[in-house]
Amino acid sequence: MIDFHTHILPNVDDGSRDMETSLAMIKKEIADGVDTIVLTPHIKYNDNKFLKKKDIDKFFEEFYSKVSFFNIAFLLGSEIYYTENLLEKLIQREIKTLNDSNYILIEFNPFYENYNIENVLFDLKANGFKPIIAHPERYNYIDLKKILNYKEQGALIQIDSASLFGFFGKRAKKISHLCFKKNLVDLISSDCHDNNFRSPNLKETKELITKKYGIKIAEQVFEINANNIKNEILKIKNISNK
Ligand SMILES: [Fe+2]
Repeated sequence: MIDFHTHILPNVDDGSRDMETSLAMIKKEIADGVDTIVLTPHIKYNDNKFLKKKDIDKFFEEFYSKVSFFNIAFLLGSEIYYTENLLEKLIQREIKTLNDSNYILIEFNPFYENYNIENVLFDLKANGFKPIIAHPERYNYIDLKKILNYKEQGALIQIDSASLFGFFGKRAKKISHLCFKKNLVDLISSDCHDNNFRSPNLKETKELITKKYGIKIAEQVFEINANNIKNEILKIKNISNK
């Protein structure tokens, strides 16, 4: 199993605060049956102090020297908060993408739609990038029609596992379940930030999906889709993949 969206890399964002927490999170991922963790620290590239690709690579190198004994693969990427000029920054290679591939995990303003997301997706796709939308079920303005439109623009949909359990409120819970019912989900990830309230939880999530929507849907999101994307992002580069 692959966790595509995590904040396990320590001291770089509002995720893990120290190595001890990161180690506990990794152990929980392994206990859940995860064999590949994608590290996706937040980046806000219009902030002067944003984490550039070279910074993230450096932090990862140090981190990996302490966790390489685990029998598990780590891939490095980021979670990009969209504001204007993303395309320009991506083309300049300043922004860390998923394993330096053309796949990007992208989140939009959760409160209001301050950019036309469909246009953004169109431009990214037209320039060869493959956007994965992080937790759209948590956006206040979202509905199924919008999610369908995003998919029609070629974006992939990543749902947060905690949404299904109601952690982000009734609305996000309802939308996340509707996405499963309508077969709109490409990936489900923990988006874990710590080892307490927002801890890795893919085992219980897979159990819930299997119980509610059947083994075929569970296999589709947890195995088939996840492995296909992993294989795609590995074609570019091979970092610490066991
Ligand atoms: Fe996240």
